[in-house]
Amino acid sequence: MSKILLFVFTFIFTNVVFAQNFSMDFNPEMVIKYRKDFMTAVKGHNNDIKAIVYGAVPFDNHLNIHLSSLEQMFAEIESLFPEGSDFGETNAKNAVWENPEKFKKAIADARQALVTFQQAVARGDKAKTKAAFKKFGRSSCGSCHKSFKKKQN
Ligand code: HEC
Repeated sequence: MSKILLFVFTFIFTNVVFAQNFSMDFNPEMVIKYRKDFMTAVKGHNNDIKAIVYGAVPFDNHLNIHLSSLEQMFAEIESLFPEGSDFGETNAKNAVWENPEKFKKAIADARQALVTFQQAVARGDKAKTKAAFKKFGRSSCGSCHKSFKKKQN
């Protein structure tokens, strides 16, 4: 019995310590770098989807890898922009933090656009899938970047 209690206390204590370390280590520059790398990975999946949908590569069987990755990554966008990560080497506009409701809406719209695109993929019509891909890009990446990302060069 006492061993179990000891285990439980140790477990709770370790978690508290780790939680504290984590918040002490909040480093906005690392968060911004992580966020940009994350977005670059989003771009990688998006480019690969395009190459597959346009028939430039013979990897139709990879389509779901990229789609489900985007689905999971889109679900995390909001968490990539914590308070205090709004200065320095970022191209995010202040609107992300000044207009959080609008930013949340842009994320919700992007996730919905992905669902719509996935439905087009599932129907299996190649021409319509290409058109749906263009629409997906405009109403997810394009639309959010227009309001929330500064132009680079
Ligand atoms: C809901 C908003 C939102 C959506 C949706 C979104 N992005 Fe972004 N993206 C941003 C913001 C904001 C930044 C700027 C981040 C920064 O500089 O801190 C960014 C940055 C980027 C960058 C630059 C990364 C760097 O190294 O500076 C790329 C590339 C990118 N996004 C690609 C995409 C692609 C491709 C999609 C669609 C498949 C997409 N994004 C969807 C908001 C979004």
